[in-house]
Amino acid sequence: MATNITWHDNLSYAERAKLTERNGATIWLTGLSASGKSTVACSLETYLLKKGIQAYRLDGDNVRFGLNKDLGFSEKDRNENIRRISEVTKLFADACVISLTSFISPYRKDREEARRLHEEAGLPFIEIYVDVPLEVAEQRDPKGLYKKARQGIIKNFTGIDDPYEPPISPEVHLHTDKQTVNESVETIVEYLKKEKIIA
Ligand code: PPS
Repeated sequence: MATNITWHDNLSYAERAKLTERNGATIWLTGLSASGKSTVACSLETYLLKKGIQAYRLDGDNVRFGLNKDLGFSEKDRNENIRRISEVTKLFADACVISLTSFISPYRKDREEARRLHEEAGLPFIEIYVDVPLEVAEQRDPKGLYKKARQGIIKNFTGIDDPYEPPISPEVHLHTDKQTVNESVETIVEYLKKEKIIA
């Protein structure tokens, strides 16, 4: 960390939320590749925008084309990927925007750190476990990555030869092999309403 730097404050999150009449929040979707994170996040983003709610989706693949293009899939790089995204989502929430993230985010400690970062700043952090049995994800295999991982063409593939640590007590637990996309979105929307994050 650099020295000789000073933190500058203007409005607090609470003041900004009052002035803009908007709430910020981070909706953090975690789950295996092909679990449905991006599909649910896309649908929820559209739902929120149609309601006039400021929402923005940050996607694992997309972010790796820009902000995180220097990172691969080693444990260290995945930690750094999630650390940077946690900081970005904190900024979105502080700006009274709801961000929706779809990153595998396989390590519990990285997600816990993202939560801590938000909660210490008084910003809502909602962890959504997009749960699906590995066999189902592997059957879906929309990008053909599981097949390549089984053939040994891709190394360190989550669920095959790299770990995924499921959340212990997520705010919302989806089962995308049993729920439709709309049902998953409704489940999240109900939670957001119950917590008064959206009306
Ligand atoms: S992580 O673990 O949170 O840092 O991963 P993330 O940034 O979400 O990127 C996951 C997407 O990268 C593609 N991909 C891989 N995933 C897992 N393991 C390996 N080795 C890998 N290599 C490439 C894959 O398209 C993931 O996207 P999703 O949408 O999850 O399928």
